[in-house]
Amino acid sequence: MSKSLKDDPLWYKKAVFYEVFSRGFYDSNNDGFGDLNGVTAKLDYLAWLGIDCIWLLPFYGSPMKDGGYDIADFENVDPSYGTEGDLIDLIDKAHSLGIRVISDLVMNHSSDQHPWFLESRSSKDNPKADWYIWRDDDSMYKGARIIFTDAENSNWAWDHVRQQYYWHRFYSHQPDLNYDNQEVKDAMLAAVKKWLDLGLDGFRLDAVPYLFQEENTNCENLPATHDFLKLLRKEIDSRYPNRVLLAEINQWPADLVDYFGNDDECHMCFHFPLMPRMFMAIRREQRLPITEILSLTPDIPNNSQWGLFLRNHDELTLEQVSDEERDYMFSEYAKDSRMKRHMGIARRLAPLVDNSRSIAELLYALLFSLPGSPILYYGDEIMMGDNIYLKDRDSVRTPMQWTPDRNGGFSLANFEQLYLPPLMDSVYGYPAVNVESQFKNPGSFLLWIKKLISVRSNYEVFGTGKIEVLHDDNPSVFAFVRFFENEMNPETQTENDSRIEVGRMEGEDPVSVNKVLCVYNLSRFPQPAELDLSKHKGAKLVELNGRVIFPMVTDGSYRLTLGPHGYYWFEISDQI
Ligand code: BGC
Repeated sequence: MSKSLKDDPLWYKKAVFYEVFSRGFYDSNNDGFGDLNGVTAKLDYLAWLGIDCIWLLPFYGSPMKDGGYDIADFENVDPSYGTEGDLIDLIDKAHSLGIRVISDLVMNHSSDQHPWFLESRSSKDNPKADWYIWRDDDSMYKGARIIFTDAENSNWAWDHVRQQYYWHRFYSHQPDLNYDNQEVKDAMLAAVKKWLDLGLDGFRLDAVPYLFQEENTNCENLPATHDFLKLLRKEIDSRYPNRVLLAEINQWPADLVDYFGNDDECHMCFHFPLMPRMFMAIRREQRLPITEILSLTPDIPNNSQWGLFLRNHDELTLEQVSDEERDYMFSEYAKDSRMKRHMGIARRLAPLVDNSRSIAELLYALLFSLPGSPILYYGDEIMMGDNIYLKDRDSVRTPMQWTPDRNGGFSLANFEQLYLPPLMDSVYGYPAVNVESQFKNPGSFLLWIKKLISVRSNYEVFGTGKIEVLHDDNPSVFAFVRFFENEMNPETQTENDSRIEVGRMEGEDPVSVNKVLCVYNLSRFPQPAELDLSKHKGAKLVELNGRVIFPMVTDGSYRLTLGPHGYYWFEISDQI
């Protein structure tokens, strides 16, 4: 049964997101490229899985030299993805199934094939001469780092037509737009309105820390950038209710939180520093990397939310770790140098964890219970593999594996026509790993993750509750309580605190759940845990998956035994 779209301005705090690379999802017209109609065709699958919001990678006009992040037409659908009508169909059908749809908004740069750039480069005095950042020499903004260090050696590129340098933070075929020019801002806001008018529920804001430049700074996180994002938010809020801005800000926590503003900038930001530390914690079998970064993460405004992810369409970025930690990550997770891309590791989740089901489950359970909304990457729900022999980040963008049939059920085109070859190896290839087989297999990862999504969705406290990390002398044990504020601190209770009545086992009366205890064993061996639950004396613990009742919390210290990579989610119930 499908959910309906609720009129809820805070929907994104309770949502499970799913990232779709339309090119690789499903090819509806068998030309070898996945398309928007292909996503529409698979919406029933996504509704069945239980996700709440799809994030579509860019589908705009593009020469596709950077997966569509090199945009040559901000206001039209690239014909290889379909038509505007196809997008409207996708959004309408998704909405009818209770699923929202957001898409990438790439404001920082365009393709060098964009007509704006072609005009801008044509002379020094054309009407768009100032739409990009041109200089006679490459001496300015030396404090700005190079992001794609393995592909570019300067943020300036020489243009032989205009006989000047232009500024670019990413590939040199992606010139940065000049946001000091009001016309550029207006053009981008026009594109924003166009897509929102068609019904999109918001945007993933690509690469926003770099919108403005200023001499003698690192050209990131500048006040002018925040002002522009606040303006964007205001424009959206004034006309389009219940939309979300999910920002890609690959920065340290203290800089990241500024992008929430005072609940007047971005609704959500990806927690970039947390992501690699989850992988570090698993390999070190210790909670420290996670607890450390959580303690360095400032509180965020009430209506703001973290976007949590394990993997996405990019490399596992190691920009927000120390040099030593980066070396450690490379030595543990990129044993073959072909796995390294830019400043990170272009691998999917399953190969990163050596295809270990128990580690994958542990990581997802963490992702679904830490403060924030989880964002899944297409294919990771069946533990798809990658192909490190493909260039750039194509390694993690191979066709979705739907069935054991030709081309993994992705397309009926000839194999040679496909945008990328599907995986065919004996471990991760589509004959072994695909949706159809896992759908039929009650013990599959797919059915496990579907259950995880439904459990999380039933307990609003995972989305909107606070966190208290519990100390345990055992460094391999990570435990915390998610709670609604007034439960732990009665004096702070307010009338507006959210509460949810959740339907639990069929036939059971809904019971409000305000406190959940999560306990993880990060090691590959069984581990004892001794938790200080003195604040919850007299409560009983009810395991959330099977609703099994565990012994009551009698005194302060509560003992548990966890299997290798095991975990528990308990409701802390005061009703005895
Ligand atoms: C996207 C990348 C892209 C880059 C440049 C990002 O942050 O996620 O895939 O290469 O922006 O557009």
